[in-house]
Amino acid sequence: MLPIENFLNKVINGDVLEVLVQIPSDSVDLGITSPPYNKKERYGGWLVDKVVYKGVRDVLPEEDYQKWQVDVLNELFRIIKPGGSFFYNHKVRYENGRMIHPIEWLLKTKWTFWQEIVWNRKIAGNIRGWRFWQVDERIYWLVKGKPEELRPEHAKFTSVWEIRPEPGHKEHPAVFPIELPTRIIYSILDGKGIVIDPFCGTGTVLVAAKILGHDYIGVDISKDYVDYTLKRLDQAEKERNRVLKEISLHAVELTFEERKEMGLWDRKLKK
Ligand SMILES: C[S@@+](CC[C@H](N)C(=O)[O-])C[C@H]1O[C@@H](n2cnc3c(N)ncnc32)[C@H](O)[C@@H]1O
Repeated sequence: MLPIENFLNKVINGDVLEVLVQIPSDSVDLGITSPPYNKKERYGGWLVDKVVYKGVRDVLPEEDYQKWQVDVLNELFRIIKPGGSFFYNHKVRYENGRMIHPIEWLLKTKWTFWQEIVWNRKIAGNIRGWRFWQVDERIYWLVKGKPEELRPEHAKFTSVWEIRPEPGHKEHPAVFPIELPTRIIYSILDGKGIVIDPFCGTGTVLVAAKILGHDYIGVDISKDYVDYTLKRLDQAEKERNRVLKEISLHAVELTFEERKEMGLWDRKLKK
């Protein structure tokens, strides 16, 4: 197995599992990803035919899809350092009237669930009324051992994140808004670390990591997306303002300690 230095600040064009097995164990601080959702593309309804990746289909039998995700997540568990975290974005899907919840396969992995974050995207593409409009996706904070405690300026965010999705993108159908990986990386990493996105698409996680001064590793099966990501990383400075705007939200008037000293917690408890 090659040392971790060989993978740093690289965007690797390849199949996720074939690449991950080459990365040494306990070597990466933090991972963030949004995998393909097995949306069945053109066969899944009018909406999902817009989510079609270049060079790869998103149409596995659900059982195979879940087994694949478990394998990927377990391989990521191996390479993340003890105490490290992985943030896994997915959503509740419905197929033939049945709800498919990500917890179905997440519970089969080696990860410990630390928190479920609801990503309120505030918009939905529904034109039918079979269900209330689904504006949420989920972000699962998974941990290997016990993570460090969040500092107050990060912990003040609630478990519902109101971040608008990236508007229509001509290169890729499912791009993260850069505020999302920025929030995660800035909250979790204290000092320089290594961030991985094993389904990196247009490289949003990697760009956020680079701007915040970390090393990154990206993997995507599509050469088009890898080429796009490399260009985007070269021009990362253009995105610094959006990253800084997210960082500016990470501020508190009073720390936990100050709140305690002022008796604010006691007062609340006595009510
Ligand atoms: C939801 S997108 C990720 C988008 C990314 N978060 C961004 O901001 O651009 C999922 C990505 O997984 C990639 N992918 C699908 N199957 C893959 C596989 N077997 N190995 C590696 N990448 C794969 C697709 O090409 C797609 O870019």
